[in-house]
Amino acid sequence: MSGGRGKLVSGRAQSKVRAARVSLREVLPEDLPVFFENHRDPSATWMAAFTMADPSDRAAFDSHWEKILAHEHVTKRTILLDSEVVGNIMCYQLLGAANVAYWIWKEQWGKGIATEALRLFLAIVTERPLVGRTAADNFASRRVLEKCGFVRIDEERGFAHARGEKIDEIVFRLD
Ligand SMILES: CC(C)(COP(=O)(O)OP(=O)(O)OC[C@H]1O[C@@H](n2cnc3c(N)ncnc32)[C@H](O)[C@@H]1OP(=O)(O)O)[C@@H](O)C(=O)NCCC(=O)NCCS
Repeated sequence: MSGGRGKLVSGRAQSKVRAARVSLREVLPEDLPVFFENHRDPSATWMAAFTMADPSDRAAFDSHWEKILAHEHVTKRTILLDSEVVGNIMCYQLLGAANVAYWIWKEQWGKGIATEALRLFLAIVTERPLVGRTAADNFASRRVLEKCGFVRIDEERGFAHARGEKIDEIVFRLD
């Protein structure tokens, strides 16, 4: 037994980063090329499942993010680990409810960054209830929501571009 404090995620030992190293800031236009590269990673898009139709379409990505940046009712932040951009998180209206979504770059998975980012974000977005939706097999995202106090309320079925078919989706809510 190693007795180490790291956890085993997808067969790799990972150590959690100190929460204080994770911070959120406003999204800057220069973040978008970094977002684009990481939002088209095949294993990340497969995991997220409910993605844009073609994540490698730069024009569609830019136009999507232009709308997000201009939309005053979408709260969005860039996630930093120290000063490095490692992801993004946002809250937007869907089906009459405020929904959260987040994305962490693959090389940073399993270090507790999404959990800490969502905790920080929940102090910025104070609207409740707040909904989180994940593909049923996105166990990491399910766990992130649960660790931040979200509870499972429903299961739906929807078309997931990254899978090319309808899949199960779990709906979580934070009251
Ligand atoms: C989902 C995602 C945000 C998680 O980010 P992360 O920084 O790795 O998350 P954290 O490290 O904070 O927490 C992950 C948790 O899931 C657990 N986990 C990871 N893989 C798991 C699996 N296959 N089964 C069960 N739990 C799993 C981790 O052990 C950890 O829980 P723990 O702290 O209790 O050990 C990240 O993988 C990602 O961005 N994926 C692509 C985009 C995406 O899916 N976004 C969410 C859309 S709803």
